[in-house]
Amino acid sequence: MNMELLQNFKSLLQLFNSTGVIAVFLSVFALLFDLMKRRKVWDRYPPGPWGLPFLGNMLQIGIRKQHLRLTELSKKFGNLYSLQLGWVHAVVVNGFDAMKELLIKKSEDCADRPNLPVIEVLGYTDKNEGIVMARYGRSWKEQRRFILSTFRNFGLGKKSLEDRISEEAGFLCTEFQMKKGHPFETHYIINNAVSNVICSIIFGDRFHYEDEKFQELLHTFEESLRETSGFWGQVLNVIPWVIHFPGPHQKVVKIQRKMEEFLLVFIKQHKETFDPSEKRDFIDAFLAEMEKVKDDPDTSFTEGNLMLTTLDLFFAGTETTSTTLRWGLLFMILNPDMQCKVHEEIDRVIGKGRNPNSGDRVNLPYTDAVIHEIQRYGDIFPIGPPRRMIRDVNIMGHFIPKGTTIVTNLSSVLKDETVWEKPHEFYPEHFLDTNGKFVKRDAFLPFSAGHRICLGEQLARLELFIFFTTLMQHFTFFLPDGEPKPSTDASYMFTLAPPPFKMCAKLR
Ligand code: HEM
Ligand SMILES: *[C@@H]1O[C@H](CO)[C@@H](O)[C@H](O)[C@H]1NC(C)=O
Repeated sequence: MNMELLQNFKSLLQLFNSTGVIAVFLSVFALLFDLMKRRKVWDRYPPGPWGLPFLGNMLQIGIRKQHLRLTELSKKFGNLYSLQLGWVHAVVVNGFDAMKELLIKKSEDCADRPNLPVIEVLGYTDKNEGIVMARYGRSWKEQRRFILSTFRNFGLGKKSLEDRISEEAGFLCTEFQMKKGHPFETHYIINNAVSNVICSIIFGDRFHYEDEKFQELLHTFEESLRETSGFWGQVLNVIPWVIHFPGPHQKVVKIQRKMEEFLLVFIKQHKETFDPSEKRDFIDAFLAEMEKVKDDPDTSFTEGNLMLTTLDLFFAGTETTSTTLRWGLLFMILNPDMQCKVHEEIDRVIGKGRNPNSGDRVNLPYTDAVIHEIQRYGDIFPIGPPRRMIRDVNIMGHFIPKGTTIVTNLSSVLKDETVWEKPHEFYPEHFLDTNGKFVKRDAFLPFSAGHRICLGEQLARLELFIFFTTLMQHFTFFLPDGEPKPSTDASYMFTLAPPPFKMCAKLR
């Protein structure tokens, strides 16, 4: 009896011994493999903090208050520094000089995007890449060229794009007027107005500000940004296979499906009423293109891309412009003297009798400078979507190898202390010379630069100008009586948005 027990004990020990040896062996192997993956040593590779096995610098950066920790790193390591994110080699680019060297002088070399697992989870594939996160290749080139020419060709149906924006700005004014000077939240009204411009291009139609279904869609969009930029989005980016298990992260996918369902209704309607001789909008143009290239197996004009490219345009085109406008109104409320100067200039140049148009821009240098300063100081896209190096490059005395992920810190350019006179103040004079004439500034890069520069830059600039001048032509904006001054602490969901605030609009 005792002997048997001893025997069992011995074999148990042996078993443990052999698994123990295997475990130790595997761990050493994994660590070595990890070290090989992480510690590629390149001559003159940008310096950076030391990373842990497997995780690299991920814990050091953390998920909350990332930017504070990264500020410390950039102070310590300079304008080009490296991070190790798991097995991904990343280089952060800070400041105008480094950004210019890379994005403008080596424009094509950094025109790729990395594979982001969370994007795959949402349904983007090698075949259907959309536009924003598409790899640098045929599909991206085709889609980018197609979108730009479609934007140009239709100024949308029969109306020119500019007239459409001007009309929408008119609806927005009516909506503001209906508040009769009482305090209100601008967020969703402005979102709706801005989104209507994209809707006009894509569906050939706008939505009423009271349309409940559309309001729901706008809320869903925002939820999606919050989710993918939030904790679970980040988790999915690192360990995408958790998507096969139930849990709160499933929400990211559910939201994506909801938006697709909404779009599908429109796509179906368009197919049913499609007439190749009369293209009404972006969806029609896409359907026509699909028909034209249907025998090409490698084309990017597919059902899947129709959905994903359209969704991308919605995302890229709504939140950004709408957030910028909300910052604009907030800065005007907080700086009544500047608001006054804008009013005075618009009254003198345009008056009240007609709508502002893009031709007025050259005669409104102060207003133009204010709009530029809203974009600079508002800094709505602090970190651009990641890039990936196509080739090895040498910049600023450093070597960046092919395949490296590039993090472009646009904020560090818009607030570069070596470039701007008052980087941390709202100061429209950044864009004015001593005679009050408008001056362009090289470090004004809110749309980024190079091959991947914002595709909607022209559209966004037109929208900002028409919406802003039309609103200022008709209203004085001010803080409700007895309300505390709204804070300008931004909240981050890829974009930096102003905190919710109430304002009053008085007809002038
Ligand atoms: C104030 C408004 C806007 C700002 C500040 C802004 C900013 C940006 C930035 C920083 C990028 C990344 C560029 C890079 O990778 O280096 C980008 C990309 C993009 N933007 Fe905008 N954007 C705005 C409005 C719009 C609008 C109205 C559209 C229109 C539909 C749009 C469509 C896009 C697209 C499609 C891309 C991806 C381009 C590519 O990867 O080739 N954006 N934008
Ligand atoms: C980007 O630049 C800003 C301002 O210079 C800095 O506070 C922030 O930490 C930088 N972010 C990264 C990722 O380096």
